[in-house]
Amino acid sequence: MRAENLMSDAPSELTVSLWRGGEQGRYQLYRVPLRASQTVLDVVTHVQRHLDPTLSYRFACRVGVCGSCAMTVNGRPRWTCRTHVANVARGGRLEIGPLENLPIIKDLATDMQPFFEKWQRAKGAFAPSRTRDDDIEPVRPDSAARIAADAAIECINCGVCYAACDTVRWNPDYLGPAALNRAWTLINDVRDAGNTERLAAVAATGGCHACHSHQSCQEHCPQALNPTASIAGLKRRAAAAYLRGEIKP
Ligand code: SF4
Ligand code: SF4
Ligand code: FES
Repeated sequence: MRAENLMSDAPSELTVSLWRGGEQGRYQLYRVPLRASQTVLDVVTHVQRHLDPTLSYRFACRVGVCGSCAMTVNGRPRWTCRTHVANVARGGRLEIGPLENLPIIKDLATDMQPFFEKWQRAKGAFAPSRTRDDDIEPVRPDSAARIAADAAIECINCGVCYAACDTVRWNPDYLGPAALNRAWTLINDVRDAGNTERLAAVAATGGCHACHSHQSCQEHCPQALNPTASIAGLKRRAAAAYLRGEIKP
Protein backbone atom coordinates (compact mmCIF):
# COMPACT_ATOMS: atom_id res chain seq x y z
CA MET A 1 0.00 0.00 0.00
CA ARG A 2 1.34 3.42 -0.87
CA ALA A 3 1.90 6.00 1.88
CA GLU A 4 -0.71 8.44 0.63
CA ASN A 5 -3.39 5.69 0.55
CA LEU A 6 -2.56 4.61 4.08
CA MET A 7 -2.63 8.21 5.28
CA SER A 8 -6.10 8.79 3.77
CA ASP A 9 -7.53 5.42 5.00
CA ALA A 10 -6.27 5.79 8.54
CA PRO A 11 -5.50 9.43 9.24
CA SER A 12 -4.25 9.24 12.79
CA GLU A 13 -3.73 5.72 14.16
CA LEU A 14 -2.48 2.23 13.45
CA THR A 15 -3.99 -0.85 15.05
CA VAL A 16 -1.03 -2.99 16.02
CA SER A 17 -1.21 -6.60 17.13
CA LEU A 18 1.96 -7.56 19.04
CA TRP A 19 3.03 -10.97 20.31
CA ARG A 20 3.33 -10.93 24.10
CA GLY A 21 4.82 -13.67 26.27
CA GLY A 22 6.76 -16.83 25.43
CA GLU A 23 5.83 -19.85 23.30
CA GLN A 24 2.37 -19.94 24.94
CA GLY A 25 1.82 -16.19 24.59
CA ARG A 26 -0.81 -14.38 22.51
CA TYR A 27 -1.27 -11.32 20.34
CA GLN A 28 -2.34 -8.13 22.09
CA LEU A 29 -3.76 -4.97 20.47
CA TYR A 30 -2.27 -1.48 20.75
CA ARG A 31 -3.12 1.81 19.11
CA VAL A 32 -0.13 3.71 17.80
CA PRO A 33 -0.12 7.20 16.20
CA LEU A 34 0.52 7.10 12.47
CA ARG A 35 3.52 9.18 11.38
CA ALA A 36 5.10 10.05 8.06
CA SER A 37 8.07 7.82 7.08
CA GLN A 38 7.42 5.56 10.10
CA THR A 39 9.18 2.21 10.23
CA VAL A 40 7.88 -0.95 11.86
CA LEU A 41 10.69 -0.61 14.42
CA ASP A 42 9.39 2.91 15.22
CA VAL A 43 5.98 1.36 15.95
CA VAL A 44 7.45 -1.26 18.31
CA THR A 45 9.56 1.41 20.01
CA HIS A 46 6.50 3.62 20.50
CA VAL A 47 4.68 0.79 22.28
CA GLN A 48 7.67 0.11 24.54
CA ARG A 49 8.29 3.78 25.38
CA HIS A 50 4.73 5.07 25.69
CA LEU A 51 2.33 2.17 26.28
CA ASP A 52 4.10 -0.77 27.92
CA PRO A 53 7.74 -0.58 29.10
CA THR A 54 7.79 -4.34 29.74
CA LEU A 55 7.73 -5.11 25.99
CA SER A 56 10.91 -6.99 24.99
CA TYR A 57 12.48 -6.65 21.54
CA ARG A 58 15.93 -6.29 20.02
CA PHE A 59 17.56 -3.65 17.84
CA ALA A 60 20.84 -1.72 17.67
CA CYS A 61 21.79 0.20 14.52
CA ARG A 62 18.38 1.20 13.05
CA VAL A 63 19.95 1.35 9.57
CA GLY A 64 20.14 -2.23 8.30
CA VAL A 65 23.66 -3.04 9.49
CA CYS A 66 23.50 -5.00 12.74
CA GLY A 67 20.85 -7.60 11.80
CA SER A 68 19.26 -7.65 15.25
CA CYS A 69 15.78 -6.17 14.59
CA ALA A 70 14.28 -8.94 12.44
CA MET A 71 10.68 -9.89 13.28
CA THR A 72 7.64 -11.36 11.55
CA VAL A 73 5.58 -8.52 10.05
CA ASN A 74 2.14 -9.46 8.70
CA GLY A 75 3.36 -13.04 8.28
CA ARG A 76 6.70 -12.32 6.61
CA PRO A 77 10.19 -12.12 8.18
CA ARG A 78 11.74 -8.66 7.73
CA TRP A 79 14.22 -6.17 9.11
CA THR A 80 11.85 -3.90 11.02
CA CYS A 81 14.20 -0.89 10.88
CA ARG A 82 14.18 -0.88 7.06
CA THR A 83 10.50 -1.69 6.61
CA HIS A 84 8.23 1.31 6.21
CA VAL A 85 4.75 0.99 7.67
CA ALA A 86 3.32 2.52 4.50
CA ASN A 87 4.60 -0.48 2.52
CA VAL A 88 3.24 -3.25 4.76
CA ALA A 89 0.22 -2.06 6.78
CA ARG A 90 -3.08 -3.46 5.54
CA GLY A 91 -6.07 -1.24 6.22
CA GLY A 92 -4.16 0.52 8.98
CA ARG A 93 -3.35 -2.80 10.73
CA LEU A 94 -0.04 -4.46 11.51
CA GLU A 95 0.69 -7.83 13.10
CA ILE A 96 4.20 -8.07 14.54
CA GLY A 97 5.56 -11.29 16.01
CA PRO A 98 8.92 -12.88 16.82
CA LEU A 99 10.96 -14.57 14.08
CA GLU A 100 9.77 -18.09 13.31
CA ASN A 101 11.89 -21.27 13.59
CA LEU A 102 13.62 -19.97 16.74
CA PRO A 103 12.64 -20.30 20.42
CA ILE A 104 10.90 -17.24 21.85
CA ILE A 105 12.61 -15.71 24.88
CA LYS A 106 9.88 -13.14 25.49
CA ASP A 107 7.58 -11.05 23.29
CA LEU A 108 9.49 -10.15 20.10
CA ALA A 109 12.91 -11.38 21.24
CA THR A 110 13.97 -14.80 19.98
CA ASP A 111 16.82 -16.96 21.20
CA MET A 112 19.48 -16.85 18.43
CA GLN A 113 21.65 -19.53 20.04
CA PRO A 114 20.49 -22.42 17.78
CA PHE A 115 21.14 -20.20 14.75
CA PHE A 116 24.74 -19.44 15.76
CA GLU A 117 25.41 -22.99 16.93
CA LYS A 118 24.68 -24.04 13.35
CA TRP A 119 27.25 -21.54 12.09
CA GLN A 120 29.75 -23.31 14.33
CA ARG A 121 28.61 -26.74 13.11
CA ALA A 122 29.07 -25.57 9.49
CA LYS A 123 32.64 -24.44 10.36
CA GLY A 124 31.70 -20.81 9.77
CA ALA A 125 34.89 -19.46 11.41
CA PHE A 126 37.88 -18.54 9.25
CA ALA A 127 40.74 -21.08 9.51
CA PRO A 128 43.95 -19.17 8.73
CA SER A 129 46.52 -20.69 6.40
CA ARG A 130 49.25 -18.29 7.60
CA THR A 131 50.44 -17.01 10.95
CA ARG A 132 50.76 -13.39 12.07
CA ASP A 133 54.48 -13.64 11.34
CA ASP A 134 53.90 -14.36 7.64
CA ASP A 135 53.45 -11.68 5.00
CA ILE A 136 49.87 -10.69 4.28
CA GLU A 137 48.60 -12.64 1.29
CA PRO A 138 47.24 -10.22 -1.33
CA VAL A 139 43.99 -11.15 -3.09
CA ARG A 140 43.24 -9.01 -6.12
CA PRO A 141 39.69 -7.54 -6.02
CA ASP A 142 39.16 -8.51 -9.67
CA SER A 143 40.44 -12.09 -9.30
CA ALA A 144 38.00 -14.94 -9.93
CA ALA A 145 38.56 -16.24 -6.39
CA ARG A 146 37.73 -12.90 -4.78
CA ILE A 147 34.64 -12.43 -6.97
CA ALA A 148 33.44 -15.91 -5.99
CA ALA A 149 33.92 -15.15 -2.28
CA ASP A 150 32.23 -11.76 -2.65
CA ALA A 151 28.97 -13.24 -3.93
CA ALA A 152 27.79 -14.32 -0.48
CA ILE A 153 29.94 -12.26 1.87
CA GLU A 154 27.52 -9.47 2.82
CA CYS A 155 25.44 -11.58 5.22
CA ILE A 156 24.75 -9.77 8.52
CA ASN A 157 23.35 -12.80 10.41
CA CYS A 158 19.85 -11.40 10.73
CA GLY A 159 18.11 -14.78 10.63
CA VAL A 160 15.45 -13.69 8.11
CA CYS A 161 16.30 -16.49 5.66
CA TYR A 162 16.39 -19.02 8.52
CA ALA A 163 12.89 -17.96 9.60
CA ALA A 164 11.66 -18.24 6.00
CA CYS A 165 13.06 -21.74 5.36
CA ASP A 166 10.48 -24.54 5.45
CA THR A 167 13.21 -27.18 5.67
CA VAL A 168 14.38 -25.66 8.97
CA ARG A 169 10.76 -25.80 10.16
CA TRP A 170 10.41 -29.52 9.29
CA ASN A 171 13.93 -30.54 10.26
CA PRO A 172 15.41 -28.73 13.28
CA ASP A 173 18.73 -30.48 12.58
CA TYR A 174 19.11 -28.71 9.22
CA LEU A 175 21.96 -26.17 9.24
CA GLY A 176 19.87 -23.66 7.32
CA PRO A 177 20.60 -21.09 4.60
CA ALA A 178 22.69 -18.59 6.58
CA ALA A 179 25.21 -21.08 8.02
CA LEU A 180 25.58 -22.82 4.65
CA ASN A 181 25.93 -19.48 2.85
CA ARG A 182 28.75 -18.59 5.28
CA ALA A 183 30.45 -21.95 4.66
CA TRP A 184 30.35 -21.27 0.92
CA THR A 185 32.00 -17.86 1.40
CA LEU A 186 34.88 -19.48 3.28
CA ILE A 187 35.19 -22.33 0.79
CA ASN A 188 35.86 -19.65 -1.84
CA ASP A 189 38.37 -17.81 0.37
CA VAL A 190 41.84 -18.72 -0.95
CA ARG A 191 43.40 -17.78 2.42
CA ASP A 192 41.35 -20.35 4.36
CA ALA A 193 42.87 -23.72 5.30
CA GLY A 194 39.81 -25.49 6.72
CA ASN A 195 37.94 -26.61 3.64
CA THR A 196 38.21 -30.41 3.93
CA GLU A 197 36.82 -30.30 7.45
CA ARG A 198 34.22 -27.74 6.39
CA LEU A 199 33.05 -29.80 3.41
CA ALA A 200 32.72 -32.87 5.64
CA ALA A 201 30.65 -30.81 8.10
CA VAL A 202 28.28 -29.35 5.51
CA ALA A 203 27.84 -32.69 3.68
CA ALA A 204 26.86 -34.55 6.88
CA THR A 205 23.27 -35.29 7.95
CA GLY A 206 21.33 -32.03 8.25
CA GLY A 207 23.71 -30.28 5.83
CA CYS A 208 23.53 -28.99 2.27
CA HIS A 209 21.94 -32.13 0.81
CA ALA A 210 18.80 -31.51 2.92
CA CYS A 211 18.06 -28.26 1.05
CA HIS A 212 15.05 -28.53 -1.26
CA SER A 213 16.15 -25.55 -3.39
CA HIS A 214 12.78 -23.81 -3.18
CA GLN A 215 14.50 -20.42 -2.77
CA SER A 216 12.43 -18.93 0.02
CA CYS A 217 15.73 -17.83 1.59
CA GLN A 218 16.71 -15.91 -1.52
CA GLU A 219 13.26 -14.35 -1.86
CA HIS A 220 13.33 -12.97 1.70
CA CYS A 221 17.00 -11.99 2.19
CA PRO A 222 17.05 -8.19 2.66
CA GLN A 223 20.67 -8.12 1.41
CA ALA A 224 19.62 -9.70 -1.89
CA LEU A 225 21.94 -12.64 -1.27
CA ASN A 226 21.26 -16.04 -2.80
CA PRO A 227 21.84 -18.81 -0.23
CA THR A 228 20.23 -21.31 -2.61
CA ALA A 229 23.05 -20.77 -5.10
CA SER A 230 25.63 -21.03 -2.31
CA ILE A 231 24.11 -24.35 -1.19
CA ALA A 232 24.13 -25.64 -4.77
CA GLY A 233 27.85 -24.80 -4.88
CA LEU A 234 28.40 -26.73 -1.65
CA LYS A 235 26.58 -29.76 -3.07
CA ARG A 236 28.88 -29.73 -6.13
CA ARG A 237 32.07 -29.31 -4.09
CA ALA A 238 31.02 -31.95 -1.55
CA ALA A 239 30.28 -34.46 -4.33
CA ALA A 240 33.67 -33.78 -5.95
CA ALA A 241 35.46 -34.14 -2.60
CA TYR A 242 33.65 -37.44 -2.01
CA LEU A 243 34.67 -38.78 -5.45
CA ARG A 244 38.29 -37.82 -4.71
CA GLY A 245 38.07 -39.70 -1.42
CA GLU A 246 38.66 -36.54 0.65
CA ILE A 247 35.45 -36.89 2.64
CA LYS A 248 33.34 -39.89 3.61
CA PRO A 249 29.63 -40.30 2.65
S1 SF4 B 1 21.67 -14.56 4.12
FE1 SF4 B 1 20.47 -12.66 4.12
S2 SF4 B 1 18.60 -13.17 5.28
FE2 SF4 B 1 20.12 -14.77 5.72
S3 SF4 B 1 21.08 -14.14 7.63
FE3 SF4 B 1 22.34 -13.37 5.92
S4 SF4 B 1 21.61 -11.29 5.51
FE4 SF4 B 1 20.05 -12.31 6.78
S1 SF4 C 1 16.47 -23.12 -0.85
FE1 SF4 C 1 17.20 -24.49 0.79
S2 SF4 C 1 17.93 -23.11 2.42
FE2 SF4 C 1 16.71 -21.85 0.99
S3 SF4 C 1 14.66 -21.79 1.89
FE3 SF4 C 1 14.71 -23.53 0.46
S4 SF4 C 1 15.32 -25.36 1.68
FE4 SF4 C 1 15.78 -23.49 2.88
S1 FES D 1 18.38 -2.36 13.95
FE1 FES D 1 20.23 -3.03 12.97
S2 FES D 1 19.50 -4.04 11.15
FE2 FES D 1 17.70 -3.20 12.05
